Amino acid sequence: MLNSKLKTLLLLTASVFVIGQSNSADNSKQIDVTEAAFKCITEFAASGEFFVDNLLGNLAATLEVANSDSGGKFPAGSLVTLVPNEAMIKHEEGWNPATNDWEFFLLDVSAEGTSIAQRGGVEVTNRAGSCFGCHQLARPEWDLICGINHGCAPLPFTREQIRGVQQSDPRCVREN
Ligand code: HEC
Repeated sequence: MLNSKLKTLLLLTASVFVIGQSNSADNSKQIDVTEAAFKCITEFAASGEFFVDNLLGNLAATLEVANSDSGGKFPAGSLVTLVPNEAMIKHEEGWNPATNDWEFFLLDVSAEGTSIAQRGGVEVTNRAGSCFGCHQLARPEWDLICGINHGCAPLPFTREQIRGVQQSDPRCVREN
């Protein structure tokens, strides 16, 4: 009895491990992402309506693509974020061809910092649905970045609402 329970437990543990690994096509191409990567959104570099960073120190290359009028492929290490609780991070080429090597993050943010609620490829969702499901509508030259006119269906929020959410990131320390 105990023995068979133990076997079931071992099997479950093993399959959770396998499922956990299957999100990424190639773990050797995964750059290390910890919660420390996610900070006060308005302290990142601004590009149009969103903010960017590069976890490998290559911010200039990330900004060049983010600010381009014709799109392009974001370099590894790129972090892109529009609202405090969501971000996309680019792993090395070959990490997961299905998502152009982007990993999607759903975050819990508070004055204490950031914790990762969900991370991964096509399976990551927010209340409106699948991150990838919406972002894949961006025309190919935009590397899954929706922007305001890259082919994605628009979000049901005004610019003012989005900026308001950016300005009220609880991780930002206000001086007063
Ligand atoms: C309902 C469709 C939809 C879903 C679901 C969705 N997004 Fe987006 N996302 C958009 C659109 C449209 C924009 C552009 C909004 C704008 O600037 O007006 C956007 C913007 C962004 C941006 C800024 C860069 C860009 O593409 O313009 C990031 C980063 C982002 N989303 C990440 C995520 C993550 C991570 C998830 C899942 C946790 C997610 N999104 C879920 C549609 C969606």
